[in-house]
Amino acid sequence: MPVKVLEEKVILEHPSGSSTEVYFYGATVTSWKCKGKERLFLSKNSFLNGTKAIRGGIPLVFPQFGKASDSSFETAILPQHGLADNQVPENLRKEWPKKFRIIYTITLTEDTLNNHLTVKNEDIKSFYFNALLHTYYYVPDISKVSIKGLSNLSYIDKVTKNTQVTDTNDSITIDQEVDRIYADVPSDEIYIDLGHEDFDNFILRKINLKDTVVWNPWIDKAHGMSDFGDDEYKQMVCVEPGTVSEYVNLNVGETWEGGQILKISK
Ligand code: BG6
Repeated sequence: MPVKVLEEKVILEHPSGSSTEVYFYGATVTSWKCKGKERLFLSKNSFLNGTKAIRGGIPLVFPQFGKASDSSFETAILPQHGLADNQVPENLRKEWPKKFRIIYTITLTEDTLNNHLTVKNEDIKSFYFNALLHTYYYVPDISKVSIKGLSNLSYIDKVTKNTQVTDTNDSITIDQEVDRIYADVPSDEIYIDLGHEDFDNFILRKINLKDTVVWNPWIDKAHGMSDFGDDEYKQMVCVEPGTVSEYVNLNVGETWEGGQILKISK
C-alpha cells in the first residue's frame, strides 16, 4: 500500500481509493476518505502548525482526559486532555516524565479505519493514565443525525455541571450543546446514523475502551472557540471511545491495548 511521508504528515493510500492522513504533531489523524468522500470533520480554522491541538480528525487524548478533578493526582499538572494531542513525542516525555512506550497503529481498508493503541510501562513504578480517541465525524446535517447503542444508560452531563442523567430515548439526537460521558457502556458497537441518502452511516466498534464521550459545542461554545467556525457545529459530532471514568493503573513491564474500528455502512 503506497505510503507518502511528507514533512508534517504521512498519507496512506489503499488500492480501492480510500486514504488517510496522519500529522506527526500529536499523531492526529486529520483525514479519512473512502468511496470518494471525506468521513472526518476538520475545522477550517484549525491550527495545523503545532501551536494548538488540531481541531478535528482524531486527536489522541493521553494520559489525561479533561482536567484531573483531584489536584493532588499525578496527572493534575497536565493541560486539558493531556499532552498527546498537542505534542511531538520528545516533549510529551519531558512534561510527563514516565518511561513508557506508545505504539499507535493505523490500518486502512476499502471501508474501515482502525486506530489501535498500545501503551507499555517501561518505568520503575506503576503509573495511571486515561486514553481516548477524540473522533470528529463529518456529518452533512446535524439535525438528521441519530446515535444508537447508548440508550437507557446513565451518563455524566458536563453541560449541567456533571449531573448524573439516564436517557430513556432509543437514540441520541442533537439540537443543543451536548457533552456527555457514558461510563462502562455494555455494547462495544455504536451506530451513527447520518439520516442522509447520499452519505453512508458509521459503525463504531470499540476495543477495550469501555467509556464513550459524545460532544457537540452548539452555537454559543462554537462562537467562543478561536479554532472552530461559527457554523461548523452543524457539520460535526464527536463520538469518542476512551477509558476516562477511571484511570488505567499500569504496572511495571505491563502493556495495555485499546482502540476503535470505524466502518462505513449503508
Ligand atoms: C470533549 C469534552 O471530549 O472535548 C468537552 O467532553 C470539551 O468538555 C471538548 O469541550 C473539546 O475539548 P478541547 O480541549 O479540544 O477544546
